[in-house]
Amino acid sequence: MFKAHRREFLDRMHDGDIALFQGAALATRNHDVEFPLRQQSSFWYLTGCHEADAALMLAKGVDGVEEETLFVLPRDPARETWVGRRLGPEGAMDQLDFDIAFNNDEFQAEVSEALAKCKRVWCQLGFNDELDAFLLDAIKSLRAKGRLGLAPPEQILDAGSIVHELRVFKSAEELDLMRKASAISAEAHMLAMAQCRPGMMEYELEALLHYTFRRHGCNDAGWAYPSIVAAGDNANILHYNTNHMAMNDGDMVLIDAGGEYQCYAADITRTFPVNGKFSPAQRDIYEVVLAAQIDAIDAVRAGNEFHFAHDVSIAKLCDGLHQLGVLKCGVEEAIATEAHKQWTIHNTSHYIGLDVHDCGISRADGKSRLLEPGMVLTVEPGLYFPANDDSVPAELRGTGVRIEDDIHVTGGVPENLTAATPKTLADVEEACSAERIAPPTLDTAEIH
Ligand code: GLY
Ligand code: MN
Ligand code: MN
Repeated sequence: MFKAHRREFLDRMHDGDIALFQGAALATRNHDVEFPLRQQSSFWYLTGCHEADAALMLAKGVDGVEEETLFVLPRDPARETWVGRRLGPEGAMDQLDFDIAFNNDEFQAEVSEALAKCKRVWCQLGFNDELDAFLLDAIKSLRAKGRLGLAPPEQILDAGSIVHELRVFKSAEELDLMRKASAISAEAHMLAMAQCRPGMMEYELEALLHYTFRRHGCNDAGWAYPSIVAAGDNANILHYNTNHMAMNDGDMVLIDAGGEYQCYAADITRTFPVNGKFSPAQRDIYEVVLAAQIDAIDAVRAGNEFHFAHDVSIAKLCDGLHQLGVLKCGVEEAIATEAHKQWTIHNTSHYIGLDVHDCGISRADGKSRLLEPGMVLTVEPGLYFPANDDSVPAELRGTGVRIEDDIHVTGGVPENLTAATPKTLADVEEACSAERIAPPTLDTAEIH
């Protein structure tokens, strides 16, 4: 799959072009502890290389000869004993399907040579300071050698304009990885629903989610983004993720969490009662958001505008806000003036793939892009009524509901990758009362 991605990039290059990509470096967490490495997404897309400090050069010679060169950390038995195995150039050629690979300390020499011969350079300026500085220096140095017949490249082009567009369309293999991330994440949400009890801490549900992600082989951290476990009024903080509060009887809890499998994300939100049974007011709000989500999913079809699902969702949410006695004006006026925005707050969709908010253009020249088969986007309407919002009926306050699934645009009916996560009122209540095995609790005295 990674080699095919490189071929697709090379197909879009002209003769005399090179393209440069820098992989992720380790980042310090504290003192001498590092964060787990998460490969830069486009670098992963083109290489499948999970090592730090790697780099890639794609070259299309003026004679049309194509070269794919990977640069990796050198083999080093002493370092490898301490911090882990490395591929080395030979391992990289063997395992990652490259014909040419070097130690990464040869990157600058190899690229300098290529820069002296090429006409155009594709790279992602502003992404890696060291690479940017090296490129500028190399260009300056070539300019100074004009009398020797050398010249810098004529153009520097944004590699993102190719690779981001390629990443918008998921191949069959990528879709299978996304289905796997989705299935694991659905299981995680079901375990949280089954285990949730009044008095538990939000972080206990977070632990069950992350346990499930890792248990099924999700990436190092397990999650695709920090999990949101937001009970009661916390659901009205969109990216709440401290997850440190107790969950009260009579409240709902909003979980927005997805695992990352071989770097592909799932992004699922469900909102359910902490005690397993929706109250009448909770039902009313939930049904409005669910109706909006179902209609919006149906709008995710090839040929429709990317933002059509949002319009469908907002129209339905406004109907619901009217029924709930929230809107002070008519539905049409609320849509026209965006009077709903105080309670609907965010957009309905984003692309998803290697990044949870994936790259790719959804709007250009003021126009929404048309959906095409192979795209995957979320559909995630929500309604938010903070505890201090005295403009809404009292029974709604302190409640936030969001429902989110990941939708694959097909040639026909949309495929909901995350459909296994319970969503109807009846299915959610059933999942909340289900027997699902969780890791055992510790039989230790409580420590304060
Ligand atoms: N989990 C972030 C989002 O739903 O966009
Ligand atoms: Mn999302
Ligand atoms: Mn989400």
